[in-house]
Amino acid sequence: MFRHSIRTLVVGLCALTAASQGATAMALAVPAGQYQATPATAPALRSQTLSDLATAMKGEAFAYASYSLFAAEADRQGHAAVGELFRGTAQTELNEHLRQAAALAGTVGSNAANLREAISGETYEHQVMYRDFAAQARADGDLDAAELFTEIAADEGRHRDAFRTALTAVTTGRGSIPAPPTADVVPVPAGPPKVKAARTRANLDTALHGEALAHARYLLFAAHARQTGNTALARLFEGTAGVELHEHFAGEAVLAGLVSTTKPNLRKAIAGEHEEATVRYPEFAERATAVGDTAAARYFRDTAADEAKHMTAFRQALDRLR
Ligand SMILES: [Fe+2]
Ligand SMILES: [Fe+2]
Ligand SMILES: [Fe+2]
Ligand SMILES: [Fe+2]
Repeated sequence: MFRHSIRTLVVGLCALTAASQGATAMALAVPAGQYQATPATAPALRSQTLSDLATAMKGEAFAYASYSLFAAEADRQGHAAVGELFRGTAQTELNEHLRQAAALAGTVGSNAANLREAISGETYEHQVMYRDFAAQARADGDLDAAELFTEIAADEGRHRDAFRTALTAVTTGRGSIPAPPTADVVPVPAGPPKVKAARTRANLDTALHGEALAHARYLLFAAHARQTGNTALARLFEGTAGVELHEHFAGEAVLAGLVSTTKPNLRKAIAGEHEEATVRYPEFAERATAVGDTAAARYFRDTAADEAKHMTAFRQALDRLR
């Protein structure tokens, strides 16, 4: 696991505990209800709808991870009710919105297929993405970011290797599923961005979205492994999910200055919910309706309505703080 110098700069404790990870994984194991599993006879979704579902999942995973950090900051500032609001909303983003999109898109496959997906993502992050990001940050003088990207690249290589070993065990019965990695939780207090270059900021944003999505996908893969009786594989996915969120996302969030104090965090959340409720999901619903992807269209419409409720709740919370 990486050890990064930013740890010496940060204070406080992240409220996301191993216990909450366990609770999330349990919640994800519950059947998805009205959006569950497209029947084999159903027509395949159009590529635009699949692309919109992928965009939705990325946004929902990012909202979950961001709101979890905003909740911890609200707690630190003594705004317990706002902390609860952020935590509850985060659960809706992950356990309802993201999970329903994943069910429609067919994100979860067999344990072997899920491992192959995971290996492919980790390989790209290890060999290409984080190496490129580190080189760019170094060239632009963002040395803390270069160091963090380099450390994360090495972690992703370890994740890939563990998943490869697990795939061999799952498909051939040879060897065993590796023990899960343990996340070294990075606290994310309110603070300004700690990088200079616009390119580094853009790469951090890409990386934050990728880490949040990896965390959420691995929890879905873990739930499937558990449902199919492969507890060791479930633990490997859950442990890796924890590293993606509590080390990688959190370390990047510190450098990006993702967390501010509670009022600006609420304003940021309101702006995000407003965009989702009034632009993103209505557009996705319109496109899905136009091509006859009716279940997806209903999901996008329902989700837009939920985001409008989130926006209202955040606005009311902000009004009470004034
Ligand atoms: Fe959402
Ligand atoms: Fe990873
Ligand atoms: Fe990662
Ligand atoms: Fe929302």
